[in-house]
Amino acid sequence: QVEENTHTPAKKPPPMSILEVGGVPLPISSNEIWDKISKFEARPDDLILATYPKSGTTWMQEILDMIQNEGDVEKCKRAISLDRHPFIELTFPFKKKYDFEMALEMPSPRLLKTHLPSHLIPPSVWRQNCKIIYVARNAKDCLVSYYHYHRMTTLLPDPKSLEEFCQKFMSGEVAYGSWYDHVKGWWAAKDKHQILYLFYEDVKKDPKRETEKILKFLEKDIPEELLNKIICYTSFDVMKQNPVANYTALPTSIMDHPISPFMRKGMPGDGKSFFTVAQNEEFDKDYQKKMAGSTLTFHTEI
Ligand code: A3P
Repeated sequence: QVEENTHTPAKKPPPMSILEVGGVPLPISSNEIWDKISKFEARPDDLILATYPKSGTTWMQEILDMIQNEGDVEKCKRAISLDRHPFIELTFPFKKKYDFEMALEMPSPRLLKTHLPSHLIPPSVWRQNCKIIYVARNAKDCLVSYYHYHRMTTLLPDPKSLEEFCQKFMSGEVAYGSWYDHVKGWWAAKDKHQILYLFYEDVKKDPKRETEKILKFLEKDIPEELLNKIICYTSFDVMKQNPVANYTALPTSIMDHPISPFMRKGMPGDGKSFFTVAQNEEFDKDYQKKMAGSTLTFHTEI
């Protein structure tokens, strides 16, 4: 049983303060807290879900929770996403406890989430040789999703225009820093550690094949019927209606869904339609430069 960790703040909280750690802007309140986060003790049987924000974290969390609970929907509804699996580094001001404290009290096997770039992961994760699932999403879709998320949540600053946000995204001046460094960093890390590197677009295109990859990585074998149940339960349309997965349980002082729902579109290729021809050209040119030299390629057109 997971304890409810969220409570309704009396008034709108200010956007989270940003701390620069190892050249990356992180939404963490102080060096002291960061020190505690970096000393987080992972366990060998922890499963870590790592993503850049807006890459399908909540979706993969739901898939993994269904796998860990053998498709028991009631167990997967035991608490809202935010309280069910802690983010290692998250220090949301409206929670009763920091997530890393909540994680300490959880029984094994734990599923832990993180948006940290690979070079800032608490060293115990590597030491314990934890299994890690990384989900990458193409840059433009990630950017547009992040832009709308900034609009609807008071946790992050007002993004102003898409144009302004786009410049910030390209220069890595957003919470969790550069998308380019994040996806490349984890891509490089997969050659040295137990990391299954997945793409949002692949999961969307063939959820069955990608879930089978996850099962193989986790050394689990499940009946076909259960696999189909997991895919159905974690589809966009079903999750959008699921109050423990769609973030509507949070007060509007934190997330205002009428501005832009958390479960917004869930479609690959949505991003590029938001850009003008000139913006697309500028973005693509910059993208080629930043991604040059990496073997990482995204399967869908960016
Ligand atoms: P959009 O804003 O493009 O719709 P995260 O959980 O990392 O914050 O990612 C949120 C993004 O994942 C949102 O993207 C959301 O709609 C999308 N998403 C959530 N559940 C999904 C699902 N079951 N299928 C496809 N996309 C999903």
